[in-house]
Amino acid sequence: MREYAIAVIPGDGIGNEVVPEAVRVLDAAGDITASYRLRYEHFPWGCEYYLSHGEMMAGDGLAILRPFDAIFFGAVGFPTVPDHVSLRGLRLPICQGFEQYVCYRPSVLLPGVRSPLAGKTPGDVDFVVVRENTEGEYAGAGGRSHQGLPIEVAVQTAVFTRLGTERVVRYAFKLARRRRRRLVSATKSNAQQHALTLWDEVAEAVSREFPDVAMERVLIDALAARFVLAPESLDVVVASNLFGDILTDIGAAICGSMGLAPSGNINPEREYPSMFEPVHGSAPDIVGKGVANPVAQILSGAMMLEFLGEKAAAELVEAAVRVVLAEGRVRTPDLGGTARTSDVTAEVLARMRASAE
Ligand SMILES: NC(=O)c1ccc[n+]([C@@H]2O[C@H](COP(=O)([O-])OP(=O)(O)OC[C@H]3O[C@@H](n4cnc5c(N)ncnc54)[C@H](O)[C@@H]3O)[C@@H](O)[C@H]2O)c1
Repeated sequence: MREYAIAVIPGDGIGNEVVPEAVRVLDAAGDITASYRLRYEHFPWGCEYYLSHGEMMAGDGLAILRPFDAIFFGAVGFPTVPDHVSLRGLRLPICQGFEQYVCYRPSVLLPGVRSPLAGKTPGDVDFVVVRENTEGEYAGAGGRSHQGLPIEVAVQTAVFTRLGTERVVRYAFKLARRRRRRLVSATKSNAQQHALTLWDEVAEAVSREFPDVAMERVLIDALAARFVLAPESLDVVVASNLFGDILTDIGAAICGSMGLAPSGNINPEREYPSMFEPVHGSAPDIVGKGVANPVAQILSGAMMLEFLGEKAAAELVEAAVRVVLAEGRVRTPDLGGTARTSDVTAEVLARMRASAE
C-alpha cells in the first residue's frame, strides 16, 4: 500500500465546504483500488487566520509544506479582507516559492452538461490552458507613491524572463505533442512591445524543437473571442499569468459552470510539492448554503492522484463524475438542479463503488 502525505488547506468560503467532500472521494478511491492511503495534515490558513494572526499562513509556512507529496487547496477570499492581501499572502507565495510554474487547466464539456454556447456539444470543447504561474503580471513588482494625493501614482510592472517563459512554453509543446499537436500562444506583442515580444521570440525558438506541433500566435483579444466562437479549434493554449487566468474562467464558463473546472499548480521537476485546487474562488455569494458544486474540487483531487501516479484511482473518480453528470439526476443549482453539495458526493461515491463491483 503506497502512502502519500497531503497538506490540506481548505482556505475560505466554499473551500471549507467542498474540500472535505473531495477528501471523502479521494479516500474511497484509495480503498476501492486498494493501492494507496493518503495521510492528511490540515492547515487552517486563510482569511480567518489572517484576522486573528495578521498573516495568511504561518511565517514558516513554506518550510512546513515542503516535505509533503502534494498540497490540496480550496480557495481564498473573504469579504472583509482585501483580495490582494489574501491572494498574495497564501496562494501566490506557494506557487512562486515552490516553482509551480505550470498552472494546468483543462476545459472539457462533459456529456449531460449544457454549454451556454448554442450548438456546442461534448467533443466541441476539449482543450488545456497552460498558464504561466510564477511571474508575468503577478510578479508583484511596482509600488504606489503620494497615496491619497491628487498626484498619486501606481505602477504595476509585469516581469517576463527568458527562463520563465521558455520553461512554460516548452511544457506546453510537450503536452501538445501528447494531444492533437496544436498549440496557440497567447500574446499581445502589438501593444506590449517589450515583454510580449520576448514571449513571442521564445515561443518561436522553442517551436523549432517541436516541428511536429503546429504553433499559432494569437492576440489575446481575438483569442478571447475564439474561446466563445470556435472552442473546437483549440487544443493546447499557453498564456501568461493574467491572460491564462482570464481565459480559464471563460473556459470554465463555456463548459457549463465554474463549479466543474479543476486546476493544478505544477512543479514539473517535482523538486517541490505541487498544489491542486479548483479554478473557482471562495464564492461568498453561496457560502453557507450547502449548494456549492463539489465537482471542481473532486476533479482537482483526481488530477492530484494522477500526478502522484495513481492513474487507476484517478480514472475511477473521473469516470464516476462523468456518469453522475451524464445522468443528470443529482446536480447542484449552478447546473440547474436542486441537489446539495453532499448529495453530489454521495452519488459520486455510489458510482465508484458500483463500478468496482
Ligand atoms: N484560487 C483562489 O483561491 C481564488 C480564485 C478566484 C477568486 N478568488 C477569490 O474568491 C472570492 C470570490 O471571487 P469571485 O466571486 O470573483 O469568483 P468565484 O469563483 O468565487 O465565484 C464566481 C461565481 O461562480 C460561482 N461559483 C464558484 N464556484 C462554485 C461552485 N463550486 N459551485 C457553484 N457555483 C460556484 C459563485 O457562486 C459566483 O457566482 C474573491 O475574494 C476572490 O479574490 C480566489
